[in-house]
Amino acid sequence: MKIHFDFDSKHFENSEVVLVGAYAKKDGGVQLAWSDTQLKKEFDMAKTSKNFKAAPGTTYGFTCSRMSDVIVVGMGEKSKAKAEGIRRATAHALMAVSGGKYNSVSIDAASFNAINKLGDTAGLINEALIMTGYKFDKYFKETPKESFKDICIYISDKKAKKQVEKIEDTSKNLADSVNFCRDLVNEAPNVLHSEEYAKRIEKDCKTALKGKGVKVKIMGKADLKKEKMNLFLSVNAASAYEPRLVHLTYTPKKVTKNTKHYALVGKGLTFDTGGYSLKPGASMMGMKFDMGGSATVYGAFRAAALNNAPYKITCILGMTDNAVSATGTVPDSIVKGRSGLTVEILNTDAEGRLVLADCLDYACDQNPDYIIDAATLTGACLVALGSQVCAVLGNDDKFVKQVQDSAKAQDEYMWQLPIIPEWRDDMKSKIADLKNIGTPARAGTATAAAFLENFIKNDIKWAHLDIAGVCDSQAHLPYCPSKGASGLMVRTLHNLLNG
Ligand code: BES
Ligand code: MG
Ligand code: ZN
Repeated sequence: MKIHFDFDSKHFENSEVVLVGAYAKKDGGVQLAWSDTQLKKEFDMAKTSKNFKAAPGTTYGFTCSRMSDVIVVGMGEKSKAKAEGIRRATAHALMAVSGGKYNSVSIDAASFNAINKLGDTAGLINEALIMTGYKFDKYFKETPKESFKDICIYISDKKAKKQVEKIEDTSKNLADSVNFCRDLVNEAPNVLHSEEYAKRIEKDCKTALKGKGVKVKIMGKADLKKEKMNLFLSVNAASAYEPRLVHLTYTPKKVTKNTKHYALVGKGLTFDTGGYSLKPGASMMGMKFDMGGSATVYGAFRAAALNNAPYKITCILGMTDNAVSATGTVPDSIVKGRSGLTVEILNTDAEGRLVLADCLDYACDQNPDYIIDAATLTGACLVALGSQVCAVLGNDDKFVKQVQDSAKAQDEYMWQLPIIPEWRDDMKSKIADLKNIGTPARAGTATAAAFLENFIKNDIKWAHLDIAGVCDSQAHLPYCPSKGASGLMVRTLHNLLNG
């Protein structure tokens, strides 16, 4: 699917189908959001158009005598539509024209402009088209054909040209990075083991991010041993593959002594069997998603670099699987990590925090002003917040609020959970500095964060995102695949890094 922006109405009118938005009025009527009077007239004349109430998620099709097929897309009430309304309406619009009926499609940006900023609307349409058009179909013997080749985003107001030109690239960079994240998360775990995962990131940095000020360093088992990352290594102990710590840095073109430095850290468990504390079969299914945190922070890093973010960004990805073998770490083991703190490993299925502990300690030594980690860390997150809300916890309420505000600006759900002294105590061991599990079935997401907090030093501001719920299928969002990786939180983090 090729998308292009067009200011010329000819292309718009010549395509086989045009997509236009419409708002629901309070009195039950429909406010057609486009300016073409003939189109309006023909819509009114169509026999069944009165049944269409422009509710979000609904579409109405008719044939216009001058042009071609027209599909009217419901946006709901204009005052409620906002940016997310534009994303969702675009997704529904795209679904309405998919299926092989059309070769060329045009979408009238102005008629979706619920936010009264035509340039931003065009960007949101572009973003939503790219996200909605995503498919993970590489494993089919015959790749299903694309439903159409060309889609035109028509911008009727030439005054918006400058703004549109800028947003055309930035929205594409962002949505492509969301899709890059999804591809990594959806990839099969027998293919995407730690060694392969690191290679793919390196390749992407050397191609897509070429000339963007990005440096790549990849560390293996020997390097981790040198760094005394024994908590990370304890998770890798049963693996057929070497662990990988991928250390990326982005330096903006202009750096002053005031340039802020963000570090992103991601859990990259290419598969989580639970280890000796083996997961039951049903809970093990889907654990290829356990590298979602690392794919999410990489997606954000990628988009930020492509869009010339003004901050220094470090990205640390901790990659291994949590396998079962004779060499695996047994429960009751006590291991000293990079920070010098010892951990009594009572449950080998609480492995993400062990990898993150060493990665966070390492990240602190890069001297960032802020650290954000993302991880599919706890099943408890799904119990607390369901599968549609991302949990955020941290050591600085102002910074947590900043991350939350960024999520809000991107219409991604994020809710803060507390870390209280009692839960910090819950993670203390009687025979080591810490233990890796808290009281069973009690505030599991927060006790995990309380554990991680021990590895943040030098008063660095830190926020932890538990994406266990939001990483996987988000069927309620029309621009996310109903099954498979969502790519959520890439937008939130990108927004934070480019703001
Ligand atoms: N990767 C899992 C968390 C998870 C569970 C993510 C379900 C998505 C869906 C993590 O490594 C894990 O196994 N956590 C344990 C921790 C427990 C042993 C303290 C859990 O949540 O059960
Ligand atoms: Mg686990
Ligand atoms: Zn895990």
